Amino acid sequence: MSELHAVAHKMVEKNKGILAADESNPTCDKRFESIDTDSTAESRNLYRSILFSSKDIEKYISGVILFDETFHQSELSSGVKIPEYLSSKDILPGIKVDKGLENFGSNEKLTMGLDGLSERLGKYYALGARFAKWRAVITPGNGIPTDECILANAKNLAKYAQKCQNANLVPIVEPEVLMDGDHTIDDSFDITSRTLNTVFDQLDQHNVSLQGMVLKPNMVLSGYSCSYQADIVEVAEKTVNCLSAHVPSEVPGIAFLSGGQSDEDATMHLNEMNKYETDWNLTFSYGRALQQPALKAWSGKVENSEKAQQALIDRAKANSLATAASL
Ligand code: 13P
Repeated sequence: MSELHAVAHKMVEKNKGILAADESNPTCDKRFESIDTDSTAESRNLYRSILFSSKDIEKYISGVILFDETFHQSELSSGVKIPEYLSSKDILPGIKVDKGLENFGSNEKLTMGLDGLSERLGKYYALGARFAKWRAVITPGNGIPTDECILANAKNLAKYAQKCQNANLVPIVEPEVLMDGDHTIDDSFDITSRTLNTVFDQLDQHNVSLQGMVLKPNMVLSGYSCSYQADIVEVAEKTVNCLSAHVPSEVPGIAFLSGGQSDEDATMHLNEMNKYETDWNLTFSYGRALQQPALKAWSGKVENSEKAQQALIDRAKANSLATAASL
């Protein structure tokens, strides 16, 4: 098996998932504001060091997605560079490489970051990264998403994925259909179908090896302000049906984003989906749904570090069990 295929399989290994800790600095500012803590390079380094040094984290977490700033920092208790620190625990270091969103038309978004990407990928690989992430945002709404916006995002995702594989990095391909809004679960199903269809068509056109990538999609659920909220069983059924229709069996694994669901919902949806027989491993690549309780428990106070670590491990363990439908 090539290195790429081996890494992709390891990322989605049974009973493990991915911790998304790649919040950009402005996003981190918002998260830290919610706990009344200044967001500085030092406080972000401290918070992430606490997370990554949680006892037994490697039992539940196969990989961690890092932001550029964190990638170049050291884990504070050991003084070891963070990619190297994670590797020493048998956790794969990953790196967010997109450069965020620009407006596409009046109310849609296109993810940027292809300029100079190959050079950046080569540097990250040399410093220990083994996978990368690029997030495209698809917005449900009145008359949107347009086919043009879906296609433009799918093309950028495919170009990114091709460049990653050329640099020996496994691409996480993340087309996120937002969960905010009053759209129904059937709207979410249709938009997710259109999006995945276009993304896999573009991946094919750009000769991306499907065995050497991981898909990170949204789950198919009711928009958060829709009057009818589908239950766990319906979300699992519609999500698995949607993915089965569009995701080729060569893809080794699907690692869902949590997208603002409560941590409990994100876990229970994953557990329910794992009751189905599928071609790919179904796991998690959660940001908020793994970190929210830990962030709150920490609240910026050094004396709360152990409580924060326990909160992270509790969520990681529950999601690990959910990958085997064991809850
Ligand atoms: P959430 O799980 O908080 O949606 O974050 C995952 C992620 O990596 C978004 O790009």
